[in-house]
Amino acid sequence: MARRKIIAGNWKMNKTPSEAVALAKELIPLVKNDDVDVVFCVPAIDIVPVVEAVKGTNIGVGAENLYIEDSGAYTGEISADMIKDAGAKYVIIGHSERREYFAETDEFLNKKVKKALEKDLIPILCCGETLEQREMGVTIDFVRFQIKSDLVGVSADDAKKVVIAYEPIWAIGTGKTATSDQAEEVCAAIRTCLAEIYDQQTADEIRIQYGGSMNAANAAELLSKPNIDGGLVGGASLKPDFGKVVNP
Ligand code: 13P
Repeated sequence: MARRKIIAGNWKMNKTPSEAVALAKELIPLVKNDDVDVVFCVPAIDIVPVVEAVKGTNIGVGAENLYIEDSGAYTGEISADMIKDAGAKYVIIGHSERREYFAETDEFLNKKVKKALEKDLIPILCCGETLEQREMGVTIDFVRFQIKSDLVGVSADDAKKVVIAYEPIWAIGTGKTATSDQAEEVCAAIRTCLAEIYDQQTADEIRIQYGGSMNAANAAELLSKPNIDGGLVGGASLKPDFGKVVNP
């Protein structure tokens, strides 16, 4: 079945609100493509101005994180309702940087996935192995563990809304992209895992992105693979290059 491609930029901790608006405006004409969902995942403080800047375009906006409670005494955190009301439609969950630097566990991420879905935000759920795990030959076991634990208790109908991003940690920000065959192998294994958890039809509807040093030069090759339905792009999403990832 044909899955609509989804190319998302993850701006990480880059761009002040005014810089974010300038970048969004620079990218708007470059990322026009009616056949692709284009998303800018931006720092929380940039969501409101970027939503305003991209109004009337094909670009959706996403947050980079959310908290599992609806409101209350959680100083510094941001709720799903706040993200939605600010005009964002997507939220990145379980990026390896959050797993590593903020000790986010799969049990906690499972709660985030459920909260996002409850509030009608589309989770972009990240998974991916370390270099050590790849060298030990446990990549697929590890990624399957992440996907299974992060989706515990998520119904098939809800799972169809989730976007999964396979991001090998050794490829993030290193300039070392996975080969398209390496990326396809893991994305195909994720789909098999989804078919085991749910059923083949559900698995066939879920979009799986690749992320890790994706750029204008390697996007077309990665996106030509049958199980790679898009990209989650870091560094290259902050440059006009992103236009060439959307329109390779
Ligand atoms: P880079 O594209 O900079 O390697 O980052 C990938 C990433 O972490 C996207 O979430």
